[in-house]
Amino acid sequence: MDRLVTVGLVLACASVGGISTGARGAGVETLVALQDTTVLDGVFTSAQARRGRRIYTRDCASCHGQEMKGGEMAPSIAGSDFIVFWTELPVGSMFERIKVSMPEDGPGRLTDEEYTDVLAYMLSENSYPAGETELPADKAELDKIMIVAAE
Ligand code: HEC
Repeated sequence: MDRLVTVGLVLACASVGGISTGARGAGVETLVALQDTTVLDGVFTSAQARRGRRIYTRDCASCHGQEMKGGEMAPSIAGSDFIVFWTELPVGSMFERIKVSMPEDGPGRLTDEEYTDVLAYMLSENSYPAGETELPADKAELDKIMIVAAE
């Protein structure tokens, strides 16, 4: 009984610490540590990123630029500012964000597979490593992969 109370207190203190150091504080880091997979683990294949590049060129580059550096009307979607914003969020959130709002001139126009291939290309352009397995076109599975800063 005593021991349970102690554990509860430690957890309560840990979460208070997380809040007091801001939304990106200790509490969030603990959550990330519990996740097995991150974008550093080779979560897409280079063939998938190449497919994504063709889709990106067709459906995204007109606004975001072929280098993903953004244009007059659209923000950059590559580089440290972009990744800092998404750090500690799951890839599934980025999938959902793109699917509901992009391409801005026709949201939802792509298939889930096409959105996923574009995500693979975005990860590769953001310097994350390719691996042996493709990124799955499934939000629940993508939610298990965390975005962390590139090494
Ligand atoms: C017609 C122009 C246009 C096209 C085409 C377009 N976008 Fe966008 N995109 C925008 C604009 C404008 C914003 C900023 C407004 C907003 O966030 O909705 C944006 C925002 C984004 C963001 C959020 C950026 C951030 O800082 O988090 C992502 C990610 C994104 N676009 C990805 C894509 C992808 C992937 C495609 C292709 C499937 C695409 N966009 C096609 C105009 C466009």
